[in-house]
Amino acid sequence: MDRIKITGGERLNGVITVSGAKNAALPLMIASLLTEQTLTLENVPRLVDVDMLERILRNHGVDTAHDGRRKGQRLEDGDTLHLTAKQIVDTTAPYDLVSRMRASFWVLGPLVARCGEARVSLPGGCAIGTRPVDLHLLVLEKLGASLNLEDGYVVAKAENGLKGNVISFPFVSVGATHTALMSAVLAAGETIIENAAREPEVVDLGDCLTKMGAKIEGLGTSTIRIQGVNQLFGTRHSVLPDRIETGTYAMAVAMTGGNVLLRGARADLLDAVLPIIKQAGVDVKVENDGIRVQRNGARLKPVKVATEPYPGFPTDLQAQLMALMTRAEGTSEIRETIFENRFMHVQELARLGADISLKGDLATVTGVDELAGAPVMATDLRASVSLVIAGLAAQGETIINRIYHIDRGFERIEQKLGQCGAKIERLVG
Ligand code: EPZ
Repeated sequence: MDRIKITGGERLNGVITVSGAKNAALPLMIASLLTEQTLTLENVPRLVDVDMLERILRNHGVDTAHDGRRKGQRLEDGDTLHLTAKQIVDTTAPYDLVSRMRASFWVLGPLVARCGEARVSLPGGCAIGTRPVDLHLLVLEKLGASLNLEDGYVVAKAENGLKGNVISFPFVSVGATHTALMSAVLAAGETIIENAAREPEVVDLGDCLTKMGAKIEGLGTSTIRIQGVNQLFGTRHSVLPDRIETGTYAMAVAMTGGNVLLRGARADLLDAVLPIIKQAGVDVKVENDGIRVQRNGARLKPVKVATEPYPGFPTDLQAQLMALMTRAEGTSEIRETIFENRFMHVQELARLGADISLKGDLATVTGVDELAGAPVMATDLRASVSLVIAGLAAQGETIINRIYHIDRGFERIEQKLGQCGAKIERLVG
């Protein structure tokens, strides 16, 4: 299994180009199930999760092809992806695929919307919490599907099609909002989603569905109205830039010091994040072609943050911020309110010398003068990359094990950081 070796202490200088957002690309790919015509997605990040979802979609009968590769890359490295679901050949999403990637559960809504039935495995447990799917089931139930649980599978049927209704979520769920959008676009009549997620990735999916012929109002607000249509069509859509990747590299530069342009980054997607990075004493400037992050010498300042649904501070940057705060001058407080168990990085950061205490959903981080390299590993994507951030500033060598988690969500991380001066290499095998 591949590992990453980092020799800490180098400042980062140069340019990092931000990739397309994983968490937008995945639902956009799933939206291809809603039409027999070709959906072409541009700016698709080359990630293990994208490959895995392609496999899952092919299983349902979706034909996939890539192009748009950069010079020197292999054919399968292209960032334009064509998806054609001319015919759905199988409405079952099996356990061995769904258990490997939770987002693949989201095929449920579009399969029922298009085919009137689906049999999708329950995803099972997850490293960051129990993560139930009850809100996804609520969506289908509200839209008139019958639901049964059989041998660990959700069996949903709507032989006469889905019917619009009011779906009122008790709390915000990104995935359940994706499910509601992708189910309601082909349902008869009007659907109103109340307490909808406002995440940019939800808006990106909604924009793409609109280009495909869907009638949607209120994207980016808590109330979304959808008028069902009889069919959707193919289109071309470019995946929005990854705000979590942007925030991650911004924190890496904040950690090491230096001066990096995050090319293609959109500051408007990071309204709750950039002020926190600035508060930590880092210079952040919005430029024409991205965001410039700069820190020279001065110690980092502590911050107080709680994760929240968008437009609040994202849970997907909580671990990275915690890594950054391990070297601040003073005590920071980081509260995780979205997931119940998203603190697996704490013990690993402690192996590098961090001083963090946990009480319920609150982590108190007391900054230390130095971190020291060590072998570490993590059990989810964002936790793993927080160890990269810490490793970049730690004295000596940090070896990060199980980096397949990083490959799920960060495209060519060792190249992107390496070309800015980080001493980072992938140890293969
Ligand atoms: C999406 O997960 C993202 N995944 C996550 O990114 C992200 O952390 C999360 O949204 C929150 O922003 C993708 O987009 C592929 P939720 P999702 O439904 O949709 C509970 C990463 O590292 N809940 O908004 O699964 C749930 O347990 C990942 O890229 C229910 O109780 O998250 C959680 O506590 C990890 N019942 C809260 O809601 C449900 O039916 C919010 O989860 C659904 C969710």
